[in-house]
Amino acid sequence: MTQAPGKLAQAPAVPHIVTELPGPKARAHVEFDRQWTSPSLPRAYPIVPVRGEGCVIEDIDGNLFLDFNAGIAVTSTGHCHPKVVRRIQDQAATLIHYAGCDFYLPIFAQMCAELARIAPMKEKCRVFLGNSGTEAVEASIKLARFATKRQYIVAFLGAFHGRSYGSVSLTASKAKYHAGFGPLLPGVFHAPFGHVADLKWFDEVLFDRLVPPTEVAAIVVEPIQGEGGYIVPEDGFLQGLRAICDKHGILLVADEVQAGAGRTGKMWSIQNWDVEPDIVATAKGIASGMPLGAMIARDSLMTKWGPGAHGTTYGGNPLACAASLETIELLEGGLMDNAKARGDELLAGLRTLQGRFPSAIRDVRGIGLMIGVEFDTAERAEAVQWGCFQRGLLVLEAGHTVVRMSPPLVLTAAEAAIGLDLFGKAVADAAVAEAPGADAARA
Ligand SMILES: Cc1ncc(COP(=O)(O)O)c(C=O)c1O
Repeated sequence: MTQAPGKLAQAPAVPHIVTELPGPKARAHVEFDRQWTSPSLPRAYPIVPVRGEGCVIEDIDGNLFLDFNAGIAVTSTGHCHPKVVRRIQDQAATLIHYAGCDFYLPIFAQMCAELARIAPMKEKCRVFLGNSGTEAVEASIKLARFATKRQYIVAFLGAFHGRSYGSVSLTASKAKYHAGFGPLLPGVFHAPFGHVADLKWFDEVLFDRLVPPTEVAAIVVEPIQGEGGYIVPEDGFLQGLRAICDKHGILLVADEVQAGAGRTGKMWSIQNWDVEPDIVATAKGIASGMPLGAMIARDSLMTKWGPGAHGTTYGGNPLACAASLETIELLEGGLMDNAKARGDELLAGLRTLQGRFPSAIRDVRGIGLMIGVEFDTAERAEAVQWGCFQRGLLVLEAGHTVVRMSPPLVLTAAEAAIGLDLFGKAVADAAVAEAPGADAARA
């Protein structure tokens, strides 16, 4: 691409679609990709991004899309926020790598102190830096077992925590994530998620029939389930988990990888319920697209392990830290507030849409810019996702029947209104034609 930076900002009103979709270059690229990449990657639809700015993505054919995905809830400050770009460029020209696990990097410790400062715990915290969400969850599992000297972990049906062995053992959103990979990590139980009434499962099933609470190290929960379908728990559910943990000395681990980093209008989604976790796992939006994952834990837990217990070569890479330090400044400087305001607008608009198509749209839910629209069938959700793509709006399915919206937190009111309009048109089409065959269109 040779266009000058900032070109997208002066582009015609977005979306601006200049080819059929996918365009000729996108089709050729998809063919090339198919020859060389792992077939395990679950590609949603043939978008081939080559440039991004704010909430706009330009594809390989020069089409401009309005992005309500943010690279799966990652580019929280918008694509290529100039301040984030500058911070990465400055850091790249200064020091790219020096293994924070074995040596002392100023920006590494600064990053840890910053995440400890914004942690949702009253006690002083410490931070372990990795590169991804799954590593943050792995670190949480290891610390929870190490610190409690207990072995069992409870996760939830519908949960998604990643795909490395520990995380995938906690994951229970789709059976395909486990298929062919057993045996998984032993000592993991899955509880029902979301309703206060579900909490009785702990006493009546887990502690009564399966294992004593004194052997459970941690309950790992996404305060709002992400990949499983953007499911917001009932008020009282997370408070109930906290009470169970307090009663039995179990650690509460909040997986904030998707819902955290300001997306719900609070830095951490669990703060919407005023619940304090013992450990937080974060990644995705915390560094605007640079690979950074972190486990934030209470000081009294983290100081239980010593040198060599856990580490990683690239974790807390200076470029990722630079991006994250700038990201946190931007989140606190107004983007969290914007997420709540734009989210409220989107939710109101989507509820009106649900009123127009009550049999197709089963539910509209979310907080801030973490919004799920549940359809009556998986085919309908798929058709809406495809219909949005055809109109220049990027959204992504979650669970089996849900379309999620997780735009960058820089979304403007005008962009939210355009997105709503396009989404409404895609729903209207999908509601009349019984799922017109995204697969056929893709072929
Ligand atoms: C809640 C949650 N936890 C963990 C992960 C895994 O993160 P990563 O893909 O960076 O390993 C994800 C990824 O979608 C997630 O949504």
